[in-house]
Amino acid sequence: MCGIISYIGKQDALPILLDGLYRLEYRGYDSAGIAIIDHDGNVCHMRTAGRVDELANLLAAHPVQGSFGIAHTRWATHGAPSAANAHPHADCKNNVFVAHNGIVENHAKLRAALEREGHIFASETDSEVFAHLIERALGFLGNAGTLEDAVSEALRHVEGAYGIAVVSKKHPQKLVVARRSSPLLLGIGDNEFFAASDSSALLRHTRRIIYLDDNELGVLTPDGYEVRNIRHKPVPKQIELLTGSPEDMEKGGYDHFMEKEIHEAPDVLRNALRGRVLYEDGTAKLSALDASADKLSRINRIIFLSQGTSYYAGLAGKYMMEELAGVPSETLYASEFRYAPPPLNEQTLVVAISQSGETADTLEAVREAHRHHVPTLAIVNVVGSSIAREAGMGIYNYAGPEIGVASTKAFISQLAVLSLAAVWFGRQRNLSVLRGREILQELRQLPHKAEKILSNAARIRALADEYALYENFFFLGRKYNWPVALEGALKLKEISYTHAEGYASGEMKHGPIALVTSAFPSVVVAPSDSVYEKSVSNIHELKARGGKVIAVATEGNTEIVKIADHVMHIPRTQEILSPILTVIPLQLFAYFIAKKRGCDIDKPRNLAKSVTVE
Ligand code: M6R
Repeated sequence: MCGIISYIGKQDALPILLDGLYRLEYRGYDSAGIAIIDHDGNVCHMRTAGRVDELANLLAAHPVQGSFGIAHTRWATHGAPSAANAHPHADCKNNVFVAHNGIVENHAKLRAALEREGHIFASETDSEVFAHLIERALGFLGNAGTLEDAVSEALRHVEGAYGIAVVSKKHPQKLVVARRSSPLLLGIGDNEFFAASDSSALLRHTRRIIYLDDNELGVLTPDGYEVRNIRHKPVPKQIELLTGSPEDMEKGGYDHFMEKEIHEAPDVLRNALRGRVLYEDGTAKLSALDASADKLSRINRIIFLSQGTSYYAGLAGKYMMEELAGVPSETLYASEFRYAPPPLNEQTLVVAISQSGETADTLEAVREAHRHHVPTLAIVNVVGSSIAREAGMGIYNYAGPEIGVASTKAFISQLAVLSLAAVWFGRQRNLSVLRGREILQELRQLPHKAEKILSNAARIRALADEYALYENFFFLGRKYNWPVALEGALKLKEISYTHAEGYASGEMKHGPIALVTSAFPSVVVAPSDSVYEKSVSNIHELKARGGKVIAVATEGNTEIVKIADHVMHIPRTQEILSPILTVIPLQLFAYFIAKKRGCDIDKPRNLAKSVTVE
């Protein structure tokens, strides 16, 4: 949520900062701004409502040359998206400039106190307090005070989450950054340094990075960097190497990142499985679990914690774990667990699922679990992210960067990893080697089966075109495909702004079916599985009430084509793995409806990729 990029070095800062903003735009895109200090010590401070393009247009008319500065792209929390509320924010005298991600929880109290002292605020944001707190601290510290000392002093007063980048006219050639519960990393170049909220903004410039931890400050000059804690003690940090290539951040010939990412499903599955299938033993090789096998053998309850699409993956994970390992499991929103945790003990395992690894609710839930001494396992895509680093054990998805705000390939990868984990837990308990092998064998077939579904994209597009003007949809599924129904509805609403409700099929007759008319179609996920007959009954019930039905069904099913109005096919697979395939037609369906409706698919309104505020 929101993106920060900052630069200090010998190059012109403007193109670097603008390029960084474009790369970070998926994190928030309602306003953007920049503060660059030029060679004469003047500040170019420019902000605008709207996208980074608008800022770039403004800057084209006012070129600035300076070799250090900060920039920000915003997802509004406090204060509407406007130029005045856009970052960076300045102090009263336009000396100090701050870009902030996160939420200052005690901002109202701080603002009132600062206003009583005579500070004049120019925005409605919580973030502006940083600029005035630093201004006040510089005043206390006098001429001997450094910018980093003033930032440390200011941070003592702040409650809440922050990743900040600070420059000051009075402290040329210095950039100070700090973090608490909001991601920030340093990029180490040759006599140039970067700080960003996400590695996507750094990949073009350097692969050498340092992850800041909570309550750490980075002090960057053109000659070097230092990391210290807020008590001014230097902290030795390890330089890590970014993997991936800048091309991963491009659309690769597709119209949208979402389309590209849906089409990456076969490779995503291969990457999730690579080196993890021990076919002969009918089990999975998951180093994190292998290393803690003893402790995990005592686990008698699993709680999956996540939000959004990752929450739906967790719902499927619960069924997998219960079926294969017999471990009672539940799936909770991390945001609820954080404030209403169920009774916990050391035989409970918390599994946090997150594409970004930065979702504030999920990160805080992991911390809550640790406060209860509960072991934690993270299933995370972004390497080095906060959840990956804080959880006790971790399994990476290796799905590559997901840029489209709507999560697609990450979901598929999460399901694959969850099925491997369920096989692993199952084999630790009573799952037979033969059953383990059956699942692994089928997992290995899934990349080809996903390719087959994707090769039918044109047919799904034609169907989507036919349905693009409907304003309401139900998505229904049972057992393993209930989470897929929820996910299909979420995809459609978030990118096409079409009202869609996901339900467990059995719940329909308990109320929602009252809404069904010929103008309210239902998408029923009904592969040939143990609950197929029940799904067919549900389709009849919808048809009897004049509802149109689009079914997702298994190839070769000649019955369902006679009952449903339309069918999207998937190849035959094991029930437990079916969500990995059934979701693909639903992702394509949502994508093509949004495209037909002319929506901004990769940057839907009101959303941001990584939700780093609670
Ligand atoms: O990065 P995470 O997986 O933790 O993100 C969780 C949700 O914010 C995310 O899945 C969100 O719901 C997406 N917009 C879904 O497409």
